[in-house]
Amino acid sequence: MFKKHIVRAVATAAVVFGGIGLAGCSGGGDGGGGGAEGDLVTVGFVAVGPEGAWREANEANIQETFTEDAGYDLRYAPATNLDQQSQIDAFTSFVDEGVDVILLSATEGSGWEASLERAQEAEIPVILIDRGIEPNDDSLYATRIAPDNMVVSESVAEWAVSAFPEGANYFVLEGPAGVSVVNERNEGFQSVIGEDDAFVSLGAQTANWSTEEARSVMETVLQANDNDVQFVFAQNDEMGLGAVQAVEAAGLTPGVDVQIATIDGTRPALEALAAGQLSFVAEYNPLFGETALEAVETVLDGGEVDSYIIVPSETFDSPEAAETALPDRQF
Ligand code: AHR
Repeated sequence: MFKKHIVRAVATAAVVFGGIGLAGCSGGGDGGGGGAEGDLVTVGFVAVGPEGAWREANEANIQETFTEDAGYDLRYAPATNLDQQSQIDAFTSFVDEGVDVILLSATEGSGWEASLERAQEAEIPVILIDRGIEPNDDSLYATRIAPDNMVVSESVAEWAVSAFPEGANYFVLEGPAGVSVVNERNEGFQSVIGEDDAFVSLGAQTANWSTEEARSVMETVLQANDNDVQFVFAQNDEMGLGAVQAVEAAGLTPGVDVQIATIDGTRPALEALAAGQLSFVAEYNPLFGETALEAVETVLDGGEVDSYIIVPSETFDSPEAAETALPDRQF
C-alpha cells in the first residue's frame, strides 16, 4: 500500500498513496468530501483530550487549522479519561463512516495494528499526531508529525553534562508507561547521560504528566536521599513545576541546590525559568496544525510524504532566554 522514506536517516524511498491520483478528491473514504468540487474533506481526529497545557495547545491548533473555511469538516473525538478503548471505538466509527482521513494521537503506543489495517483496507490514510505506535510499523500509516523526542531529550542531557562537569545525583520524572514519547525521551536522554559515570541515577518514576503527582514523588525521593539530589529531569513542564514545589517544601532552593530541566516549553515553564526556579527548558513545539494540513493535502492528492515529519523545536537555558521568548509565547 505505502512505500516510505525516513527524514532523519535521509534514506529515501518514495511514498505514493495508492496511485489513485485523488486530486480534488479526498482519500479512500466516501464519508463526505470525496465528491464534487467544494465538498468538505472529512477528517476524523482521534485525540487525547484534556491532559495539560501542551495537549490543549496542540489540539486547539489542529482544530483552528482544519476549519470549514479551509474546506474541512473536522470531527474531534477526545479519549474518555485517556482510555485507549474509547479511542479505538472512535477510530472504528470514523472508518465505518468512511471519513477521508484520520488523525490519531494515541494515548497508548501498542494495540493499533488491527485498527490501522482496517483503515488501510478502507483506503483511509492515517496521520499520527505527536504520538507514535509500538512496535513502529510505518507501513500502517501515512506519516507521523511531531518534534523529535530523541533529539529533544538528548538536548536536556547535553545541557546537564555541561551544567554538572563533576556529575550529579539525578532522578527522572516520567510520563505514563506505554506512551511512545516516554520511551523515546528515555532513550534519547540515556544515550548521553548513560555514557557518563559521573552521573548517578537515583531512579525514575512516572508522575503521569501531573504537577501534583510529581510533587509527591519528588518529596519521597528527596527524603529517601537526604536531599542529596542535584538534578531532576522532568519529561514535561507540569511535572517539572511539581518538582520545584517539592524542592521548596524540603527547604531547598530550586535552581541552586537542585536544578530541574523540563520538556514542552509552555508559558508557565518559561516563567519559572525566568524566575530561576527551572534551569533548562527544551521546547516540544505543539503548533503544527499547518504542517498536518499540508500533509493531509499531499496524501489526498496522491503526493509524497515523509514517514516522519519533524517539527522544529528550540531550547531555553537561561532566564534571559525565557524573558526574550515570553512576550510572543502562544502556548
Ligand atoms: O506527547 C507529548 C506529551 O504529552 C507532552 O510532552 C506532555 O506535556 C503531554 O501531555
